[in-house]
Amino acid sequence: MKKYVKNFKVVDNIRMGDLYGLLKLAPIDGIMPDMLPGQFVQVYINCRDTYLRRPISINFVDKLRNELWILVRDAGKGTHHLLQVQRGDILNLVLPLGKGFSIKQGGKILLVGGGVGVAPLLLLGKILKEQGCLVSYLIGAKSKEDLLLIDEFAKYGVLYLSTEDGSMGEKGFVTQNKILQSDFDLIQCCGPLPMMKAVAKIARERHIDCEVSLENMMACGIGACLCCVEDTVSAGNVCVCKNGPVFNTNDLKWEN
Ligand SMILES: Cc1cc2nc3c(=O)[nH]c(=O)nc-3n(C[C@H](O)[C@H](O)[C@H](O)COP(=O)(O)OP(=O)(O)OC[C@H]3O[C@@H](n4cnc5c(N)ncnc54)[C@H](O)[C@@H]3O)c2cc1C
Ligand code: FES
Repeated sequence: MKKYVKNFKVVDNIRMGDLYGLLKLAPIDGIMPDMLPGQFVQVYINCRDTYLRRPISINFVDKLRNELWILVRDAGKGTHHLLQVQRGDILNLVLPLGKGFSIKQGGKILLVGGGVGVAPLLLLGKILKEQGCLVSYLIGAKSKEDLLLIDEFAKYGVLYLSTEDGSMGEKGFVTQNKILQSDFDLIQCCGPLPMMKAVAKIARERHIDCEVSLENMMACGIGACLCCVEDTVSAGNVCVCKNGPVFNTNDLKWEN
C-alpha cells in the first residue's frame, strides 16, 4: 500500500481519565489515505526529548466526517506531549504502516483487547461486521476507568468485559473470562504481551486460529533500522513494523 507523509489537523482531543485521550484528526488536504485495521501511523511529536516518531495504531476511520482516530495512552514523554494537543493544532503522520489483521468473510470472530491494546479492534470490528461476521469483543482492563470506548465497540459486536478489580464485568484477567470457553473461527488480539501469549495458548488448546498484534519497540517504522525484529517460523527474524505488527501465532516462535 502506498505510504504518505501527511499533515492532519486536530479536530478533537477527548480526554478519558488522567491517562488516555482519543485524538480525532482530519487530513489538511482533505484526502484520507486507504488504511486497514491493524496498521499504524508514526506520529512526529514536536518535543525536545522525543527525536523518533512514535508508533500508534489506527483506531478508527470515520468516513462520514473524514476523520482518523487514534487512541493514546500516556506512557512516557512523547505520548504525554502528544496528549496535550489542542483543536486546530497540526500533527505530521507517516501512514499507513505495516500489515493489518486478516479480514474474514463471515464466521464467528472473537476480538480480545487489553488496556490501550483495544485501539485497533474498533475499525476491525466495524469491517468484520460489514463482511457478515458475528463479532464478539472481550475487553479487559485493571479497572472500569481503563475500559475505553465501550459504547463504540458495542456498535459492532457483543461485549464481554473483565476487570482485575471486578469494578465492571467479570472479575479477573481476560484470560479467565468464560467467553473464551466458547467456539470461534478466529481470535484476533492486541494488548500486553503476557495477555496475548495466554490468549494464544488457550486458542491453540481449543484449535482456534489466532492472530496477535505485536508492540515491539520501533524506530523507523519502515523496515530499515532492524530494531523491531521478531523470530518467526516461516521466515526467521522479520521486522515487526513491515512484516507485522499482526502475526498468526502459529508463526511466532514464542508460541511453539
Ligand atoms: C505497532 C504499535 C502500535 C501501537 N499503538 C499504540 C496505540 O494505539 N496507542 C498507544 O497509546 N500506544 C501505542 N503503542 C505504544 C506506543 O508506541 C508507546 O507507548 C510510545 O512509543 C511510548 O513513547 P513515549 O515517548 O511516550 O514513552 P517513552 O518514555 O519513550 O517510553 C515509555 C514506554 O514506552 C515504550 N516505548 C518507547 N518507545 C517505543 C516505541 N517506539 N515503540 C514501542 N514502544 C515504545 C518503552 O519501552 C517504555 O516502556 C504502539 C506501539 C506499536 C509498536
Ligand atoms: S522500526 Fe525500524 S525496522 Fe522496524
